[in-house]
Amino acid sequence: MTGALGILRLPSDVRFGYGVRAGIATATAAIGRRAFVVADPFLATTPAFAETVEALEAAGVATHIHTEVPPELPVPVVHDAGRAAARFGPDVVIGYGGGSALDAAKLVALLVSHGGDLDGYYGENAVPGPVVPLVAVPTTAGTGSEVTPVAVVSDPDRELKVGISSPHLIPRAAFVDPELTLGAPPSVTAHAGIDAFVHAVESFTAAALPVDLGGALPVFVGRNALTDVLSLEAAGLIHSALPAALADPGDRGARADMAHGSLLAGMAFGAAGTHLSHAIQYPVGAMTHTPHGLGTGTLLPYVLQACLPATVPRLARLGDALGLPAEDDPARRAQGTVDAIAALCARVDLPGSLADLGIRPQDAPGIVDLTLQVRRLVQIAPVTADATFLRRIVDAAIAGDRAALADNPPTKA
Ligand SMILES: NC(=O)c1ccc[n+]([C@@H]2O[C@H](COP(=O)([O-])OP(=O)(O)OC[C@H]3O[C@@H](n4cnc5c(N)ncnc54)[C@H](O)[C@@H]3O)[C@@H](O)[C@H]2O)c1
Ligand SMILES: [Fe+2]
Repeated sequence: MTGALGILRLPSDVRFGYGVRAGIATATAAIGRRAFVVADPFLATTPAFAETVEALEAAGVATHIHTEVPPELPVPVVHDAGRAAARFGPDVVIGYGGGSALDAAKLVALLVSHGGDLDGYYGENAVPGPVVPLVAVPTTAGTGSEVTPVAVVSDPDRELKVGISSPHLIPRAAFVDPELTLGAPPSVTAHAGIDAFVHAVESFTAAALPVDLGGALPVFVGRNALTDVLSLEAAGLIHSALPAALADPGDRGARADMAHGSLLAGMAFGAAGTHLSHAIQYPVGAMTHTPHGLGTGTLLPYVLQACLPATVPRLARLGDALGLPAEDDPARRAQGTVDAIAALCARVDLPGSLADLGIRPQDAPGIVDLTLQVRRLVQIAPVTADATFLRRIVDAAIAGDRAALADNPPTKA
């Protein structure tokens, strides 16, 4: 085949910018009359949330507010929410909060529509059909969950967090209003923000997977012509806005760029997928109980360094998107991109190694074994990531020694 191939799956109504939350009530009323609202417990106490609920009622939408949304989303809590929702009988589900609230809303819609327990839907494409329409309102920038086909839960019976991935979980509408992110505390801004950057970079450096054009598509299809533009724009926005949003949490321009970038990154990775930083974070997060973005951000420079020989042209294009100084030699350009990304991680105060997260050298074999189980992400890596390759990354990331992964040592730390 010659020529570009593009695949993108998205909500049918995506709105971004200061003030777009004013449209939530009208858009919801056009979908349904009974809204089960899954809201983050802190955000549910804010005036902005009260205004939205008032506007919904005024538009003729009956609401039931559910705020039992603990971080990490333990499965029993989601089952309780599903039962509460089934009693209410919603014809639309609204998620309002960070990734945890949005993922909970997706799973509530799934349980209301198809019943049973969540473990019947773990993995890819196990959701049998459409779910109650979802309206997603993120307050972090961000997981991108407002536009993605994924929800992640903690199952007490399993070592790793588990994902439920299906295009049926893509919300019907997403309202991304940066105003709602202004109050996010520094650690949430940093960890959610760097995770959005990892989504942009990993969707851009993902493999272009072979696709059976006549068959059922996998949830994640690899990088393609439609996701590339979104990934690059997202990476450029977040690279400059994240340090600014941390330096001044009230910087409205930086908050807008972060919300914009995380939305675009979500649009890209929701179709393309992410790869090794995410795959290795699964066991690292389970062992250390550290936030998702803290782990993916810490791992990204190591993953990119290890994948560099296979991704020189991509990393060079990424360097252009980040606005790095011109460099004629593609290999040096690619190395400069990895160095700049490591510098961004340091600027937002991520630790330099997995040891700083509490991982010990003797943990490496177990991490590699568990990473290999996250097959759907490992296979999206731009190189064949076998146990030996993963072990090199994990050892270097524990030691904080990125140079150990370079054919030539990095030009600058
Ligand atoms: N579905 C996806 O595509 C996807 C992608 C990446 C991550 N995730 C999941 O998302 C979760 C993380 O989401 P998150 O990083 O958005 O955080 P979160 O939803 O877990 O919230 C973290 C904390 O930030 C607070 N908070 C959120 N917004 C705030 C605001 N505007 N002002 C003040 N406080 C605020 C919350 O009250 C909470 O205490 C993880 O469970 C992760 O696995 C999902
Ligand atoms: Fe992520």
